[in-house]
Amino acid sequence: MQNKKILVLKGDGVGPEVVDSALMVLETVAERSGLSFELDFSEIGGIAIDKFGNPFPEVTRNKLKHASAVLLGAVGGPEWDQVEPALRPEQGLLALRKTLGVFANLRPCKIYSALIDNSPLKPKYLDNVDFVIIRELVGGIYFGKRDTFVQDGLRTAYDEERYNELEISRIATYAFETAMQRKRKLTLVDKANVLDSSKLWREIVAEIAVDYPEVDLDYLYVDNAAMQLIREPKRFDVILTNNIFGDILSDEASQISGSIGLLPSASLGETIGLYEPIHGSAPDIAGKNIVNPLAAILSVAMLLRYSFSLIKEAEQIETAVNQVLQDGFRTQDLALEGFIGTEEITLEVIKRL
Ligand code: IPM
Ligand code: MG
Repeated sequence: MQNKKILVLKGDGVGPEVVDSALMVLETVAERSGLSFELDFSEIGGIAIDKFGNPFPEVTRNKLKHASAVLLGAVGGPEWDQVEPALRPEQGLLALRKTLGVFANLRPCKIYSALIDNSPLKPKYLDNVDFVIIRELVGGIYFGKRDTFVQDGLRTAYDEERYNELEISRIATYAFETAMQRKRKLTLVDKANVLDSSKLWREIVAEIAVDYPEVDLDYLYVDNAAMQLIREPKRFDVILTNNIFGDILSDEASQISGSIGLLPSASLGETIGLYEPIHGSAPDIAGKNIVNPLAAILSVAMLLRYSFSLIKEAEQIETAVNQVLQDGFRTQDLALEGFIGTEEITLEVIKRL
């Protein structure tokens, strides 16, 4: 039997709280289904800078070799704003993603019927909204050459957006395969009216499309896509895009569902999967038992599904979360009054498992 070893990286800010909730849920699922998971823990981000002087320290790098999946909280915070750019907490996360080769970042966005009123969109736009953003995660401007210098007496800086055909084709193929399992609609989001890199994405995606005649493919410029997301979100099924556009559009998408505290993510690729809520470390609300842990809990569901093929267990978690919302339980991000805390909503999820 496969050794189910999960490396847990709680990180900074609200990271430890949401990961603790997620682990309580995992433990309950394990007990109920007679499964066992071995947990290992290490540091990433700001806390790793404090302990080891490096946001992605050697000890964490080594522990990856023995893990079958990684569960992560969040990184960053104002304490580390002054550290040199190459050693910021965020660089630890990027180095982790790169080391794992997790090029496909899945960010599903769906509407919970209990939360229709939390969406800034009118209910009539929310029927049948269910799409996934597939964000390229280990290339592009996040990893391109960058520099800051003085030229002609002016402070100058640049960041390079570069992709090669292999980086594009592997994620495009993944997106087509995903579309085949869903509503068979794929939208490539780019800025091909301006950027050469986007033109290459279009070219390669069009080549791969030949092998997927059942998939209805269209292309949107990113500015238009940002608009269509709030104008007619139900038009989307699979959105394929580069690293930076995917980062921006997924925050926008989260609002359609009512809160960024609801969106989980899975990052898949060459080796083991990485699972994290899409939200950040939210230092302003950290340690107060008010953060919404549902995105982290749903990230555990994705972990069970994608790393261990435990589909039934994944669905049990998703059903329990849905039920908690149906039963009216809300964290502070979802209600003006009558909300409950991080631990309390976690216990409600556990009760329903
Ligand atoms: C995300 C985050 C990260 C990103 C940050 C923390 C580097 O915003 O996962 O969306 O930009 O990828
Ligand atoms: Mg982001």
